[in-house]
Amino acid sequence: MSNTHITRPLFDQIMVPNYAPLEMIPVRGEGSRVWDQQDNEFLDLTGGIAVNALGHAHPELVTALTEQAQKLWHVSNIYTNEPALSLAQKLVDNTFAEKVFFANSGAEANEAALKLARRVAFDQAGTDKTEIIAFYQGFHGRTFFTVTAGGQSAYSDGFGPKPADITHLEYNDLAALEKAISDKTCAVILEPLQGEGGVLPISPEFAQGVRALCDKHNALMIFDEVQTGMGRTGELFAYMALGITPDIVTSAKALGAGFPIAAMLTKSHLAEHFKVGTHGTTFGGNPLACAVAGKAFDLINTPEMLEGVKRKEQLIRQHLQEINQEFSVFKEVRGAGLLLGAVLNEQYQDQAKTFFLGAAEQGLLILVAGANVLRFAPALNISDELIEQAMLKLKQAIQIIVNKDA
Ligand SMILES: Cc1ncc(COP(=O)(O)O)c(C=O)c1O
Repeated sequence: MSNTHITRPLFDQIMVPNYAPLEMIPVRGEGSRVWDQQDNEFLDLTGGIAVNALGHAHPELVTALTEQAQKLWHVSNIYTNEPALSLAQKLVDNTFAEKVFFANSGAEANEAALKLARRVAFDQAGTDKTEIIAFYQGFHGRTFFTVTAGGQSAYSDGFGPKPADITHLEYNDLAALEKAISDKTCAVILEPLQGEGGVLPISPEFAQGVRALCDKHNALMIFDEVQTGMGRTGELFAYMALGITPDIVTSAKALGAGFPIAAMLTKSHLAEHFKVGTHGTTFGGNPLACAVAGKAFDLINTPEMLEGVKRKEQLIRQHLQEINQEFSVFKEVRGAGLLLGAVLNEQYQDQAKTFFLGAAEQGLLILVAGANVLRFAPALNISDELIEQAMLKLKQAIQIIVNKDA
């Protein structure tokens, strides 16, 4: 038991009410298990929303963090530092990128990407090439620029005038893009798999078509890999399986495996448009964050880890199919690697939250993506045994919901 005077009602008293956290307060985690204040155990298939790629309190990450904590916490960007350069070197050596910019959250990495695209166009083509094309149901963060690029206007409405010149199109609809894109377009931003928007995978033909159209109109292709990057789909980055190379890739979530850090990856001829003073952030490249991310990178970027993700995907899919054969709750299971969505069928429309709460009652933490999709984003190193246990708990939760409904 810990801090018994800290309770969930305190949240409602003193926190800005933009979140609605569960009743239980997690206090401890180990691998893919967490415990609450009352020492109840939960299996974690959320990975902190695709962040804790190596589970909770991974011993090698704890060592990386504590060793760095003894040495140097923060220096600002008046200086560079060893952990930042070492991490950037790993990213450059293992991806298309030649240059790296560090930030602290996915939104900030995307903000940098969008600003870079506008600046490149401004430098090369003057003031007219400002259009950004984005997609419905896309999600890119909550700064005003990124949330406006996101594909749900409900998230950007009600805050006054929005950043201008952002067009939204249907995802995976190449004909629509072909019609809309022009020489006034400076960038197309998209996710390789829409995570928040319902776990919707991209079609490789669409990804390749976007690349070709961007080339034709001299627009930058920005791949938002905040949720898909760093092993989540079974590739180091999802673009690697699509036969294309974007101009900019953003990464966050699993990059620090639980420590806040983000990166924008790009090519030298684009990076050079961010001259000294054009962009920045106090905490970007923080030594603590980079030390943890450097170690996480080494642990994630191995054939065993990445192949394991694909194998565990099949294991989870198989279990979900078996559950569905018994209870007929899902219309389809979609996604890639360990970012999977089970789409509820007509009978259970808008009830994802019921399943989410039912699972929590069984000691299982899952996610939703919208009102109709159960989302699973466990640690990449979750064991087969814990997957089996988690699927049993999910089955029990579903059984209770289905029986109540009957
Ligand atoms: C694809 C994608 N981009 C951007 C973001 C925003 O990241 P952050 O919440 O770290 O700002 C998210 C968060 O869910 C995301 O899934």
